[in-house]
Amino acid sequence: MLNLSAYSLAILLHLAAAMVLVGGSVFSLHVRRAVMEASTAGALRAWLGFVRRSSSANPVAALVLLGTGIYLGSRGWWAYPWFYVALAAWLANALLAGQVLKPAGMAMGSALAGVADDAPVEGLVDALRRSPGWRVAGAVMLASDMAMLFLMVQKPPLIESLAVVLGAMAIGGGVTLARARRSRLDRMPARGRPQYNAARDDDYGTAGV
Ligand code: HEM
Repeated sequence: MLNLSAYSLAILLHLAAAMVLVGGSVFSLHVRRAVMEASTAGALRAWLGFVRRSSSANPVAALVLLGTGIYLGSRGWWAYPWFYVALAAWLANALLAGQVLKPAGMAMGSALAGVADDAPVEGLVDALRRSPGWRVAGAVMLASDMAMLFLMVQKPPLIESLAVVLGAMAIGGGVTLARARRSRLDRMPARGRPQYNAARDDDYGTAGV
């Protein structure tokens, strides 16, 4: 009954690993919001702990995805450019996870050390969670995951593959960065906000950004 070829088994493992990573990426949208909205140090600490536990399988899943992807590729897909675009996107995601997301979580965790659970989230901890870098990295990773799903199913030529992955990353990252800046402006006291000045209408677009 279980007459699985090596290729089918590799596809199964590949999809299972992709589900772990893509599922985590989608869910992280809600977790990012919860981190931003946590009003006490205790609540923020609990969410950071949740992020740590829920992403603990990600490095293994990423390696299984890569290993099975390379194996599947060895059966003929190495000749196609979408394969190398997927490899590059995998590498970009691994770098963002290791160089941006993980250090950001650890920095927030260290800044919270010794802070009472019922203390408000302020000062350095608040500045760290509001810094747009980790949110933009998370959004870029989710966009790249979705673009890779498209590559796998559609297997487009080089230019289309690059356009889909880079376009998705730029849109995901750009929208998140714009929203982070918008919320920073909303939190500024009115006198600190850039004021509209009709006399300098032409350069208003860059003011305070
Ligand atoms: C989040 C990332 C990824 C997702 C969601 C994903 C998803 C998938 C899916 C759904 C398939 C089945 C496609 C089909 O049967 O038509 C597949 C196949 C495949 N994937 Fe991935 N994949 C990802 C990353 C990668 C990476 C990084 C590589 C390269 C190292 C790779 C290489 C392959 C290869 C060679 C196949 C076989 C294509 C076929 O037999 O049709 N994948 N992937």
